Amino acid sequence: MTKKLRIGIIGSGGIAGAHVRSYKKMDDVDIVAVADVIEGKAEEFIAQHGLENAKAFTGHEKLLEEDLDGVSICTPNIAHYQTTIDALRAGKHVLVEKPMSVTLDQAVEMAQVEKETGLILTVGFQPRYDPNMKELKRIVQSGELGNVYYVQTGGGRRRGMPGGTFIRKDLAGAGALADIGCYSLDFALNAIGYPKPVTVSAYSSNHFGTNPAYHSQADQFEVEDFGVALIRFETGQVLNFKISWAMHMDSLGPSLFLGTNAGLKVLPAGQGPWSGVWDGGIGSMSLFHDTLGHHTESPIPTINHGLDIFYEKVRAFAVAIIEGTEAPVSTKEIVRNQAIIDGILRSSEKQREVEIELPEGM
Ligand SMILES: NC(=O)c1ccc[n+]([C@@H]2O[C@H](COP(=O)([O-])OP(=O)(O)OC[C@H]3O[C@@H](n4cnc5c(N)ncnc54)[C@H](O)[C@@H]3O)[C@@H](O)[C@H]2O)c1
Repeated sequence: MTKKLRIGIIGSGGIAGAHVRSYKKMDDVDIVAVADVIEGKAEEFIAQHGLENAKAFTGHEKLLEEDLDGVSICTPNIAHYQTTIDALRAGKHVLVEKPMSVTLDQAVEMAQVEKETGLILTVGFQPRYDPNMKELKRIVQSGELGNVYYVQTGGGRRRGMPGGTFIRKDLAGAGALADIGCYSLDFALNAIGYPKPVTVSAYSSNHFGTNPAYHSQADQFEVEDFGVALIRFETGQVLNFKISWAMHMDSLGPSLFLGTNAGLKVLPAGQGPWSGVWDGGIGSMSLFHDTLGHHTESPIPTINHGLDIFYEKVRAFAVAIIEGTEAPVSTKEIVRNQAIIDGILRSSEKQREVEIELPEGM
């Protein structure tokens, strides 16, 4: 049998468990190292997940001295940057959890080091593996809509505020915008081919997270629970983006792609406070045409795929290492996603439109 891939896990909290469950289904992968900053936590994690071949480390630096092909980075957002840079510099391929980073500068540097080292750096957006999201992109890219000049999207949780590391600015960087907003942005931008963003005008607030009637950790809530923005792109397209962890409303509406020949409406899957487009759950899609007074609406059948999209994302990383192919979710795209989040935060703080500046070629 050929040599198994040697994988390390950095950060052994909630989502690391999902990475491990996925890797364990792969005959050609072995998890050989786990690190956490909290003393003893990696050991507990190894025991809990029955990782008999894994060594435990406190901090990621020692783990990176091991003979590893790649690492899954599952730390809070703030640590994505340093762990990714260190892992790439140590010669390891990287799957980093979403959002890519906390600031745009960090994302840019991460992408630069990826290029310098020639290793894979991919970002953990599992909705990309939902066949419905692929179908959405196929339709938009096919030209059937004509020129898509306006897009609106955004996840609208009604009561979906997390706690812990997600609500601390020093660890998460931002709230709903970073946590689920990055998915909604990816949903829309992936379909229209990730044009370069140039300006953003945004608003954000945290009326719910900071109110003890709605959040049990209200005194520690430092991030936004709602955000809305108008983003302009180099292509002349505009995106009306909105995101919410909590609100007095059932939904922020469907996602719309308005084109010069047709429109596409996407409804989120399911009902209830946690459902929505942001995590890849596409309920239905319809195409709208209207020429010379004849209106037609064509429902597009939803693909019932039964795929474990989280497994698919982790598998795509392993396969890219084995086959020596490119990153499954390219940082060239996700740096633009991060640039928009960065712009939204700056604009909402300044309460005016701001420019988005990206280095040449990004
Ligand atoms: N793709 C998804 O569906 C999904 C779902 C949930 C969370 N996430 C992302 O995963 C990341 C982690 O989320 P979580 O819910 O597992 O958080 P968590 O707080 O449960 O776990 C994070 C772990 O990382 C450890 N840690 C912190 N800094 C570290 C460092 N420098 N080196 C090593 N370990 C370190 C912490 O001690 C903790 O054990 C976040 O970026 C989050 O956005 C993704």
